[in-house]
Amino acid sequence: ARRFFVGGNFKMNGSLKTVKDIINGLNNAQLDPNVGMEVVVAPSAIYLVLARELLRKDVEVAAQNVFDKPNGAFTGEISVDQLKDAGVTWTILGHSERRVILQEENSFIATKTEAALKGGISVILCIGESLEQREASKTIDVVTSQLAAVAQCVQDWSDIVIAYEPIWAIGTGKVATTQQAQEVHLAIRKWLASNVSEQTSETTRIIYGGSVTDKNCKDLAKQPDIDGFLVGGASLKPACE
Ligand code: 13P
Repeated sequence: ARRFFVGGNFKMNGSLKTVKDIINGLNNAQLDPNVGMEVVVAPSAIYLVLARELLRKDVEVAAQNVFDKPNGAFTGEISVDQLKDAGVTWTILGHSERRVILQEENSFIATKTEAALKGGISVILCIGESLEQREASKTIDVVTSQLAAVAQCVQDWSDIVIAYEPIWAIGTGKVATTQQAQEVHLAIRKWLASNVSEQTSETTRIIYGGSVTDKNCKDLAKQPDIDGFLVGGASLKPACE
């Protein structure tokens, strides 16, 4: 069975005070050890060290991005080794906000994924289609080509969690239906079986993101190919989760 995975992506939100409040909320929350889910929080880079210092040890910390070069003259970037130095064990890569607003290409996301994995940082790899692409029936083409770019650089997918985040569902309150999400998750799993390996297809966590709340998460979690969530807005409420 695949271990259920819940990530909180704070995006460019929060302050020293509110990040501390969220961490206190998490530190006092009951995470049922029987459920044994993996919980990861991704604050802005400036709060990563603080988060790792204050957060309970059974919750991991993720960056929202990492660069693909080891060190040097890359103003504004953060390296894999710097993340490790701070006790950060995961990074989000390929979020649609970076693909669209920062114009990150598939190939760049692939080299960053390769660098993170080589350096021992696990990757939450985000993929997903726009509304226009969905309406043109291109959803599966889009997500599989996003995966194919990574597969050119990466053979071992055991430290990757795939986050399917349809762009039209992010921050809109328009969550994908259980059928819409399950259909794409199953297609991703089939793609992994044909293009990586049967074993990778069976073991890789495929999580859903896009307007997930405490109300709609239960039905989504019942779908056979949904192995967790990447939560944006709702992860900023300290008492939630
Ligand atoms: P929302 O949960 O705010 O829709 O954001 C989802 C997301 O982009 C997580 O990475």
